[in-house]
Amino acid sequence: MKILITGATGLIGTELVALLLQNGVTIHYLTTSKKKIESQPNYHGFYWNPNQGIIDENALMGVDSIIHLAGATISKRWTSKYKQEIIESRILSSNVLFKALKDHPNSVKQIVSASAVGIYPDNLTKLYTEDETGVDESFLGKVVMKWEESVNKFKLLNIKVVKIRTGLVLSEKGGALPEMVKPIKMGIGSPFGSGKQIQSWIHIHDLVEMYFFAVKNELDGVYNAVAPNPVTNKKLTQEIASVLNKPLFMPNIPQFLMKLVLGEMHVILFSSQNVSCKKIESEGFSFKYKQLEKALKQLLV
Ligand SMILES: NC(=O)c1ccc[n+]([C@@H]2O[C@H](COP(=O)([O-])OP(=O)(O)OC[C@H]3O[C@@H](n4cnc5c(N)ncnc54)[C@H](OP(=O)(O)O)[C@@H]3O)[C@@H](O)[C@H]2O)c1
Repeated sequence: MKILITGATGLIGTELVALLLQNGVTIHYLTTSKKKIESQPNYHGFYWNPNQGIIDENALMGVDSIIHLAGATISKRWTSKYKQEIIESRILSSNVLFKALKDHPNSVKQIVSASAVGIYPDNLTKLYTEDETGVDESFLGKVVMKWEESVNKFKLLNIKVVKIRTGLVLSEKGGALPEMVKPIKMGIGSPFGSGKQIQSWIHIHDLVEMYFFAVKNELDGVYNAVAPNPVTNKKLTQEIASVLNKPLFMPNIPQFLMKLVLGEMHVILFSSQNVSCKKIESEGFSFKYKQLEKALKQLLV
């Protein structure tokens, strides 16, 4: 099996590459950074520049599925210029892939694209399944909607389209968890706002297994990538402190303060999405990390 990955050099991509190589998959990857191009027996890098419509079409040779993870990080101050980059890095990259597939003979049968649970409207109680049609009114909701639309068009090429609506990815190597750990280790951690917002998390091990599962089982459609037991922000903060054996005594951090510090991006910390993983489980996928405590102990202890 040969898989082409975009964003292979990022947090999720690196973990996914390791899993696929262990399982005998040959990997082609597209990178925007020439210095990240490597060529090993089962791991070949190719250059692309979605902003300029550039792609090395050799990347498509013999590929069965594409896993599309590329996108500028959302964890950087949302200036109007950077917001444009967040959107364009996802949409232009989908467009470049689409054009390459349309214009060149290929054997690609499926594209599995990253997406995010931030598409679901901010709500403290509603349980979201993949059937939800509402879209959050925030910038992030709009980004995810446009991102999903940009991958839907691969259906026109008779390619199966899978969208992996990902929750808060827990990894010790990057993303949100190390940022949450820092203040708690210093004894100044506390929940955000009311702390009641629901965080639908997933251990990175389960997330990359889910990508592999989607390819092996030739899935088609939208799947939520969240563990079976979402928690409130308060519970998440408390569990991290408990696993690290640290006390929590500071008052909750008010929303206006985080807005001053982070600007519009602060919504990431306060928005609430209680998301169901029943659909992927009904396909036969089983999570290794169902409970937060087990996930955090594996990552932090
Ligand atoms: N981590 C999470 O909690 C989470 C949650 C929900 C959804 N997601 C989504 O999952 C995907 C992968 O996440 P991640 O955490 O692995 O992200 P990441 O560590 O930021 O890596 C993303 C990769 O995308 C490529 N990239 C960056 N800017 C780009 C640009 N302007 N144009 C084209 N490619 C660009 C880079 O690869 P090269 O340098 O090799 O080009 C980078 O390594 C992202 O789309 C992210 O939004 C992540």
